[in-house]
Amino acid sequence: MAYMHVIIWLFLTQFLVLSSKIGAKVPALIVFGDSSVDAGNNNQIPTIARSNFEPYGRDFPGGKPTGRFSNGKIPTDFISEAFGLKPTIPAYLDPAYNISDFATGVTFASAGSGYDNETSDVLSVIALWKELEYYKEYQTRLKAYLGEAKANEIIGESLYIMGLGTNDFLENYYAFPDRRQSQFTVPKYEDFLIGIAGNFIKELYGLGARKMSLGGLPPMGCLPLERATNLMGGNECSDRYNSVALEFNDKLNKLTIEMSKELPGIKLVFSNPYNILLHIIKKPSLYGIARFIRIKISCNSNYT
Ligand SMILES: *[C@@H]1O[C@H](CO)[C@@H](O)[C@H](O)[C@H]1NC(C)=O
Ligand SMILES: *[C@@H]1O[C@H](CO)[C@@H](O)[C@H](O)[C@H]1NC(C)=O
Repeated sequence: MAYMHVIIWLFLTQFLVLSSKIGAKVPALIVFGDSSVDAGNNNQIPTIARSNFEPYGRDFPGGKPTGRFSNGKIPTDFISEAFGLKPTIPAYLDPAYNISDFATGVTFASAGSGYDNETSDVLSVIALWKELEYYKEYQTRLKAYLGEAKANEIIGESLYIMGLGTNDFLENYYAFPDRRQSQFTVPKYEDFLIGIAGNFIKELYGLGARKMSLGGLPPMGCLPLERATNLMGGNECSDRYNSVALEFNDKLNKLTIEMSKELPGIKLVFSNPYNILLHIIKKPSLYGIARFIRIKISCNSNYT
């Protein structure tokens, strides 16, 4: 199981960067985003954007599909474990868990979601503003369960992870030429999404969050669907989509620098998966994981 080592190494590297900037004391991970960090919320809503069937989950403890868009654990599960918290992060809407579980980590993420409201409409999934509404409800439940003081401590010390953006481009902007494409150029659409990301960070900050990690886009031109449809490019990675990812990541990085100046006491990091993932995709044998990449990326072909 060589690929397990790689993935653990990958997220431990990310963890080291995060923990050095964020500070070690983290009582819970609180997660927002899309299928890269959804642990099963979509199983509880009427949408086709689900992964509750095999081969999803084949390497997950118990071997069952949980709603994670992966053969095994997802990045936030590994980060939780690396912080000495529980080995997997439960989905907020999963009836198998309750507030005592969520007190040490929870994900509000929904596969197919994005920064843009219209992106979540495409597959009738949970919009980012709605994820935040669930988070507010979570705060109320946490206070009722642990008391105001203890709950506020968890809210202020937890690490908030945001992982989304790919669907805004691939499921929405490029998929429907008559919608966002007719309203925005690519750079203007990027700026529109950055505005939403900035407001989201401010709202979270206003609700008491201080430690945040804003995730960048992966090399989205290398997703199987994008390669399969890149006929002119010989089914290689799409350079067009990859350069949009690079440009958008640059803007996200600048946003985190601005927000860090604007919001006193915030510890905000930009978490960039682009280069390491591209390297693994281009040179899987260096990592001994040709098999892993095939399974993991193909499971994640549509919704990331
Ligand atoms: C949560 O569930 C566990 C086990 O299913 C149970 O023991 C516990 O009392 C529940 N906690 C709350 C706050 O409902
Ligand atoms: C998205 O929808 C919500 C709920 O209708 C609304 O409050 C919010 O302003 C919308 N966001 C944008 C950027 O239009």
